[in-house]
Amino acid sequence: MIPATLHQLKVFETVARHGSFTRAAEELSITQPTVSSQVKQLTKAVGLPLFEQIGKSLYLTDAGTELLSTCQDVFERLTNFQMTVADLKGMKQGQLKLAVITTAKYFIPRLLGSFCQKYPGIDVTLKVTNHKTIQQRILNNEDDLYIVSNPPQEIDLYSQSFLDNPLVVVANKKHHLAGKSMVAISELDGEPFIMREQGSGTREAVLKLFNQHDISVRVRLELGSNEAIKQAIAGGLGISVLSEHCLISEGKSGELTILDIEGFPIERRWYVSYIAGKKLSTIAKTFLDYLLEESPKVTFPASSILTASVK
Ligand code: PGA
Repeated sequence: MIPATLHQLKVFETVARHGSFTRAAEELSITQPTVSSQVKQLTKAVGLPLFEQIGKSLYLTDAGTELLSTCQDVFERLTNFQMTVADLKGMKQGQLKLAVITTAKYFIPRLLGSFCQKYPGIDVTLKVTNHKTIQQRILNNEDDLYIVSNPPQEIDLYSQSFLDNPLVVVANKKHHLAGKSMVAISELDGEPFIMREQGSGTREAVLKLFNQHDISVRVRLELGSNEAIKQAIAGGLGISVLSEHCLISEGKSGELTILDIEGFPIERRWYVSYIAGKKLSTIAKTFLDYLLEESPKVTFPASSILTASVK
């Protein structure tokens, strides 16, 4: 039996996940020398090097790779055990870890609000990020459930679609195409455009459609936030393509409008996914059922905005 503590394993797993002692120290809120000494003690206990430093990059050795997958199994089983104990005590208590793509942040926190009122003993960790980062989190098995628009095909996932997530062209109300119907997509050629960052699923979907129609927009700005894009549109920097859900708080008197462009909306749906074969905790299962039950009640904001723009 290797004389390692759970704390040492946690520290090791965090360093391995980030590929960095500094970032592991940040995540665990401990100092970097503490991280180094914990890894050193663990290495001594194992009797083989766990990491290899080449230049500035940190790589796992074979022993490190084996230990990482062992740690992941151990932590998952401990979490499940914790939840089982909570259930045996007759109360829903424990942790729910969710990672959702940027557009779902307009919907999931509200749903979590009512869910947590029902189950006040549950602590929730919610990570909001883009498609590419979610994909990485899935590969690292970091969360219980994922909400995505485009479940990565290359990972073995169980996915269930639950709600429309259409992408629409958003412009300032003063835009020359505002209020016009059935505008040809070719009208967007050369338009000043605000684009989402590399790794964004929205960006991928938009570029695919533009390529199909041979449209080349003039990208004036790349932004990693849907909210910042809305501000840039309001500021007159250009048009963009956003999920209709991003417009949830835009009233009729707002500065934005949806343009009626051929090929739009790009029809997409949200999916709730988890790694195939993963044993979901009772809490994750309960949340999954809650999500599937409550999501059909979500209303879409766009119609009022469209009407507001028609002259
Ligand atoms: P994104 O995903 O944040 O990666 O663009 C949004 C979506 O797919 O709805």
